[in-house]
Amino acid sequence: MRPLRKIIFPAAGMGTRFLPATKASPKEMLTIVDKPLIQYGVEEALAAGMDNIIMVTGRGKRAIEDHFDISAELEANLKRAGKSKLYKEVSRIARMAEVVYVRQKQAKGLGHAVLCAEHWIADEAFGVHLADELIVHEKPAMQQLAEVYHKTGHSVVGLIQVPADQVYKYGIVAYEAEGHGLLRLTDMVEKPSIEDAPSHMAIVGRYIFTPRLMEILKDVQPGSGGEIQLTDAMAILAKEEPVHGVVLEGQRFDAGHPEGFLVANALLGLQHEAYGPALREALKTYLCE
Ligand code: G1P
Repeated sequence: MRPLRKIIFPAAGMGTRFLPATKASPKEMLTIVDKPLIQYGVEEALAAGMDNIIMVTGRGKRAIEDHFDISAELEANLKRAGKSKLYKEVSRIARMAEVVYVRQKQAKGLGHAVLCAEHWIADEAFGVHLADELIVHEKPAMQQLAEVYHKTGHSVVGLIQVPADQVYKYGIVAYEAEGHGLLRLTDMVEKPSIEDAPSHMAIVGRYIFTPRLMEILKDVQPGSGGEIQLTDAMAILAKEEPVHGVVLEGQRFDAGHPEGFLVANALLGLQHEAYGPALREALKTYLCE
């Protein structure tokens, strides 16, 4: 079985669903409680043993590089001021993973973004993580997928059931049950109408692929929205070799949209050890006024 150490974070998108917040800052840097979405993503990847990180970025995304870089001045200031907890956290972020950056120069779609990282993947299996999908569970989502990969050696995709009126927002899969909570994916359609949707099972931004996917992506033609779609490449892959689906456990938030972002902040804020109690009190006070 091929090793699973590499993971791609497509992060070149313009974040139009969250304007004007994302006009001058990357959507991946939107903060849930006390850390940016992209850090949740990297921590999830590390928990699954994937410590070789490839960020596909574009214009206006430099804050992501700075976030995972050493800030010598900040570290020295925190140390000097005796703020040891903050110092440890800031220096941990800069050293937690090996990160390389690849530029997607044109907005040609998610499939194209993944293909931009081809050089770094070579002949290994790899993960893909969409950071605006925040999934919280004691067993992180990418680990749930990695367990299936390690058992089968096949590609595997994270799924959730969505209401009928939401299918047009997602890649939707056709599947057969395989037992033990595993699905065998037979087809996928990117953002179908409700009439064309093969099910209500949606792809939610967590993937593990065999290297064959990269080869397929090279020949994929523009699909939904005129973009090169990862979903279209997956549909071809599923005809050639097994592609599994796992219904992910956990609380899932579409944090790339203001509504999901606010719910994530409210719920994770209330659950937060340090800030939860004060937030609960403040909400009680304001909501009862
Ligand atoms: C992308 C994928 C889609 C998937 C979704 C999950 O779409 O193309 O298949 O269901 O992410 O968030 P996007 O939301 O980038 O348009």
